[in-house]
Amino acid sequence: MKKIILVVDDDRTNLALAQKLLLPQYRIAASNSGMAALKYLEHNHPDLILLDINMPEMDGFAVMEQLKKEEKTANIPVIFLTADNLTETEIKCFRMGAMDFVTKPFVPDILLSRVEKTIELDSYRHDLENMVRIQAEKITENARKLSVIQDSVIVGMANLIESRDGSTGRHVKNTQMYVRMIADELYRRKLFADELSPESIEDICKAAPLHDVGKIKIPDAILQKPGKLTPEEFDEMKLHTTYSRKIINTIIGDVEDEHYVKVVEDIALYHHERWDGTGYPTGLAGDAIPLAARIMAVADVFDALYEERCYKPPIRPIERIMQIMSEGRGTQFDPTIIDVFMEMLPRLKEMLNIRE
Ligand SMILES: [Fe+2]
Repeated sequence: MKKIILVVDDDRTNLALAQKLLLPQYRIAASNSGMAALKYLEHNHPDLILLDINMPEMDGFAVMEQLKKEEKTANIPVIFLTADNLTETEIKCFRMGAMDFVTKPFVPDILLSRVEKTIELDSYRHDLENMVRIQAEKITENARKLSVIQDSVIVGMANLIESRDGSTGRHVKNTQMYVRMIADELYRRKLFADELSPESIEDICKAAPLHDVGKIKIPDAILQKPGKLTPEEFDEMKLHTTYSRKIINTIIGDVEDEHYVKVVEDIALYHHERWDGTGYPTGLAGDAIPLAARIMAVADVFDALYEERCYKPPIRPIERIMQIMSEGRGTQFDPTIIDVFMEMLPRLKEMLNIRE
């Protein structure tokens, strides 16, 4: 298919001459003013523009300025046509983004070869841009696939570990869901604005399933004990937090995403800390406990109370759970987070399909 060239010149003789020279190889559109050219470009996309500089009303430079402003026309290659061959004009042509310039009166061979070269160069540019775009899309798609695989491996592994204590197997998925709900709501209310962003929330949600991986090192006798643990057994149970942190460090310590690694480690190590500093394993208090772990604590406890465990039946109704948790406001839980969580009751009921 023939390429289309728009020739813009107020001099009819020049227009006719350019047309005559180019017509055998190209399709030609002609405009005798800058305004007419811009009008033509509203609905057409030529492969090249030959643009006269000296025109009444709107000169070539003014037309060029308009072309560069519009995304649709900014990339159409332009060759300026000029009656003078002053260096300043030449410099201005290139500075304004022209691909080339040709002096009038035209030498037919020169005009033709400049036009050919410019069109050829522009088609290489197009090919290159397309190649880069396709490659970039492929890379993004591969990264997405890899991330889906990583996520399912992580959740799968966490589920496997979790299933040892005879829990329903929903804990990993559910706590992740509660964590997302709480974090999204805090973000929506602009709370902890310096720490929460769509990206950091994504990291927190991806980290949540790994919070208890350290339980893999806790003996079945403790993990599956129906009933209360002895103080010694509880001390051993507490170690799952430091085990989690160690295991995570071994598995993903080398991952380059520092924020993600830190969030996973924070959640693993600190999700049993308490706001008043009486939690474990380090006894951190208040906002010294990383935010991700403070959110995880609320989600983790809610799920523990809502679901059946080997040592306890599920607590019902859900209002009773909210009551118990609200009593931990400022002692066990971050008051800001627990307040927001309390207000989420209607949505929790909706999500858990509770109708009463
Ligand atoms: Fe835990």
